[in-house]
Amino acid sequence: MRSILNEKNLNNKKILLRLDLNVPLKNGEISDTTRIDKILPTLNFLIQQKTKIIILSHVGRPKGKIVKKLSLKPICEDLKKKLNVGIKLIKENIYEIESKSYFDKFEEEILILENIRFYVEEEKNDLKFAKHLASLGDIYVNDAFSCSHRSHASIQQISKFLPSFSGLQLDLEVHALNKITTKITKPITCIIGGSKISTKINIIKNLIPKFNNIIIVGGMANNFIEYFGYNIGKSIKEENCNKIVEEIISLSKKKVCKVIYPEDVLVSNDLKGSSKSKELDQILPDEMILDIGPRTINKIINIIDNSKTVLWNGPAGYYENPNFANGSIKIATKIIENNRSNEIFSVVGGGDTVSLLNTLKIVGRFNFVSTAGGAFLEYLEGKKLPGITALN
Ligand code: 3PG
Repeated sequence: MRSILNEKNLNNKKILLRLDLNVPLKNGEISDTTRIDKILPTLNFLIQQKTKIIILSHVGRPKGKIVKKLSLKPICEDLKKKLNVGIKLIKENIYEIESKSYFDKFEEEILILENIRFYVEEEKNDLKFAKHLASLGDIYVNDAFSCSHRSHASIQQISKFLPSFSGLQLDLEVHALNKITTKITKPITCIIGGSKISTKINIIKNLIPKFNNIIIVGGMANNFIEYFGYNIGKSIKEENCNKIVEEIISLSKKKVCKVIYPEDVLVSNDLKGSSKSKELDQILPDEMILDIGPRTINKIINIIDNSKTVLWNGPAGYYENPNFANGSIKIATKIIENNRSNEIFSVVGGGDTVSLLNTLKIVGRFNFVSTAGGAFLEYLEGKKLPGITALN
């Protein structure tokens, strides 16, 4: 993997820079700018090198359609406040941009192409689309570690057509995670939550042989609760997952890894509601599980106390509503407490988790914080990430 940092003669080059600007948006406002702030050094470096920067990024999952509320406009506006250069959002359809000379007419140093996932070809890893994208620049840089587990056109195929480099943030994350995976000591506990169930559920099986405890919270826990015969009402869950849950349970019995799922929960009738504490057999059809309950929290605290390494990826509940942030706050507080007394080594990852830690102003209190969610877990799994392999 060649880092753009070591490249000479970038002057006047058009850099196609793949970033992960997938920040949380609420009514057009960015609720956490961590992913933007982290790539500022890369942008500053490329500005100093007098390059023309053409940013490629996605936000959300528009599934190949133009979804107005998933425009990169708010991100462009945020960058304008943070950088002292010209920045412009290009709304033109990518196919109507015939060649890289199209960008010569713009004085701005940074041009941002509209959400790359508005094109169905992106997630299909379409070769022709990637070739067209590549024709719009001289050099490709991937500084989106948190997307590098995706075999998508602007992450994988594009590198076939251009000299390709890693960006500063990607270098940093890979270096830190490499160091962590070779150094961590047992017992290792991995807490996995969040709402991206499909991304994470298939990874768990491969994590079992590596860890001592896997604690499942967040949306994925609902699949486990239902598997064990409880009614989960209107809670989010991934369809057709019983087989994989069964495999996870049976594999964990064979290995020395305990898989823990919630014993009690907090529910509500809607996302904005107040919380009710419930046993698993008390959940009504019109209720949804939105956080872990007090007994589960105590169990997790106990496990953290008996661990040497804690990896945490994904909130325990719907923390956007403060009534359901308690589980995540208690987990964070316990990790910080044991970290402070050097009892554990702690690594936290994922866009939502980082956003929560920022809200609580505790992001600096862990040994390492990664912006990556799924990519972070796949890296721990020992998998070769397509975006990284493409750079080699
Ligand atoms: C992330 O938030 O983990 C990355 O932006 C990837 O998003 P995705 O899970 O929608 O591919």
